[in-house]
Amino acid sequence: MVNSFNTLQYESKKLGVMYFTVAAILLGAQLLLGLVAAIQFIYPSFLFEILDFNVARMVHINALVVWLLYAMIGSVYFLMPDETGIETVGIGLGKLGFYVLTAAVTVVVLVYILVQVGPASESTIWLINEGREYIEAPRWADIGIVVVVLVFLANVYLTAIKGERTGIMTVLMADLMALAGLYLAGMFYTDNISMDQYWWWWVIHLWVEATWEVFVASIIGWALIKIIGANREIVEMWLWIEVAMLFGSGILGIGHHYFWIGTPEYWWEIGALFSALEPIPLVAMFVHVMYDWGKEAGVKKAHGEEAVMNNNPAFLWFVGSAFGNFLGAGVWGFFHTLPQVNIYTHGTQFTAAHGHLAFFGAFAMAMIAMFYMGVQATNGIERMKMTFASKMGFALICIGVVGMTVALTIAGYGQVLVERAQMGATWEAYFISQNGHWFLQAMGWRLVMGIVTLVGFAYLVYDLLTIGKSKVQNG
Ligand code: HEM
Ligand code: HEM
Ligand SMILES: [Fe+2]
Repeated sequence: MVNSFNTLQYESKKLGVMYFTVAAILLGAQLLLGLVAAIQFIYPSFLFEILDFNVARMVHINALVVWLLYAMIGSVYFLMPDETGIETVGIGLGKLGFYVLTAAVTVVVLVYILVQVGPASESTIWLINEGREYIEAPRWADIGIVVVVLVFLANVYLTAIKGERTGIMTVLMADLMALAGLYLAGMFYTDNISMDQYWWWWVIHLWVEATWEVFVASIIGWALIKIIGANREIVEMWLWIEVAMLFGSGILGIGHHYFWIGTPEYWWEIGALFSALEPIPLVAMFVHVMYDWGKEAGVKKAHGEEAVMNNNPAFLWFVGSAFGNFLGAGVWGFFHTLPQVNIYTHGTQFTAAHGHLAFFGAFAMAMIAMFYMGVQATNGIERMKMTFASKMGFALICIGVVGMTVALTIAGYGQVLVERAQMGATWEAYFISQNGHWFLQAMGWRLVMGIVTLVGFAYLVYDLLTIGKSKVQNG
C-alpha cells in the first residue's frame, strides 16, 4: 500500500521541517564561503584581514557538516511518525533542543568570523575553536551539542519503544547511537599530533564512511516505500545487507587515513584491503534503488496500473544520490585509497575533488531530496511534480559540482606530476606546482563552476518556496 498521505499532521514532522529550513540556510552560507575561498585561490589578497582564507575555508566545511547534521536530525523527526505510527515522545523537549542548538550555532559562526587571529591557548579551545578540521566548534558548544543530541536520542528511543518498531527504525536506533558516540572521540586533547589525528579520524571517517552511509541507506529505504510504494520486505532485506557490508568495509577502511601519520605500518595492508572493498556496498545501494524502482513499475504494469510516483523532485534527488554516492565515494575514493597511489596524491587537490563529489553525491543530494519531502508535506500535495525551477536547480547544481570535481582532479594531476613525481615533494616543489598552468587554469574553472552551483542553488531555493503553489501541481 502506498502511503501517499504526506502532511504535517504530527508535531514531529513540523519539527523536521524546522530543521530542514535551517539546513537550507546553512547550505547557502556554505556555498558563499566556498566562493570566497575559491576567489582567494586566484586573488590571494581578496578580503585579506577581513575574512582570511583559513576562516572562509573553516566556515565553508563546518557549515557543510552542520547543515548535513541538521538535515539528518530533521529527517528522523520527519519520518518517525510514519514508521512508528505515533507522535514523537517528548516532542516539546525536542523543540527546545532545536532552539538551543540553533542559537549556539549562530554564536559559534559569528565568533569564527569575528575572531580571525589570536593565540592557540586553552581558552581558545574553550571559546573560539578547537582547530580540528570539519568539527571546529569550541568546547562549550561541544558540550551543548552533546546535551541536545541526548535529547534527540531520547526522543528516538522512547518513540520506537512505545510505537511500532520497523526494521528501518531498528537500524536507525543502532546507527544514531554510534553516530552520536563517535562525536566524543573528537572532544579530548592530547599534545601528540599523531594521536590527535588518530582519534579525529574516528569522527570524520567513521561518520562519513560508516554511520552516515548507513543513515542514508535507511533514509533511501524509507523514501522508496513512501514515494514509489516499494515493498517493505525487499527494502529492509537490502538494508540489512548494506548495513553489514558498510560496517564491514567502512570501519577498518579507516586505515587509509593512517598511512602517513605515524601509526604502525600494518595499517598499510589493513587500509588497502578494507577501503578498497568500500565501493561494493555503494554499488549495492545503487542497484537497490534501481531494482526497487524497476520491480514496482513492472508489478504495476502487469496489473495494468500506472506506476506510482508521488514526489518526482525528491525521487530525482534520491536516485541522483545513489549514483553520486557510488561515483564520489566509490570511484573517486578508490582512485587514491591504495597506499601505493596515496603516497603521491595525499593532500593534493585530488583529495579535495573526492571530498566535494563524495559529500555532495552521498549526503547533500539525499538531504536536498528530504527538503522536497518536507515541502510536499507542508503544502499537503498528494503527487508533487517537477517545475522548470526543480529541473534547473538539479541540473545546474550537478553540473557545477561535477565541473568543480573535474577541475580539481586536473589540478591534482598537476600537483602529483610536478610536485611529487618530478620534484620529490619538497617545499619548493609545492609552490612551483601551484603556479603551473594546469593548476591555475583549474582554479579558474573551479570558480566558474562554483558560480554555476550557486545559480543552481538560487533556483533550488526559489523552487522550494514556490513549488507548492505552482500550477504544475494541479495540471
Ligand atoms: C560518502 C563517503 C565519503 C565522504 C563524504 C568522503 C570524504 C572525504 C574527505 C572530505 C576527505 C578529505 C579529508 C581531509 O580533509 O583530509 C577524504 C579523504 C579520503 N577519502 Fe574519502 N570520503 C568518503 C568515502 C570514501 C571511500 C569509499 C573511499 C575509498 C574507497 C575514500 C577514500 C579516501 C582517502 C584515501 C582519503 C585520503 C586522501 C589523502 O590522503 O589526502 N573515501 N574523504
Ligand atoms: C559554490 C560552490 C563551492 C565552492 C566555490 C567551493 C570551494 C571550496 C574551496 C576553495 C575549498 C578549500 C580547498 C583547499 O583548501 O584546497 C573547499 C573545500 C571543501 N569543500 Fe567546497 N566549494 C563549493 C561547494 C561545496 C559543496 C557543494 C560541498 C559538498 C557538499 C563542498 C565540500 C567541501 C569539502 C568537503 C572541502 C574540504 C576538502 C578537503 O580538504 O579535501 N564544497 N571548497
Ligand atoms: Fe576515509
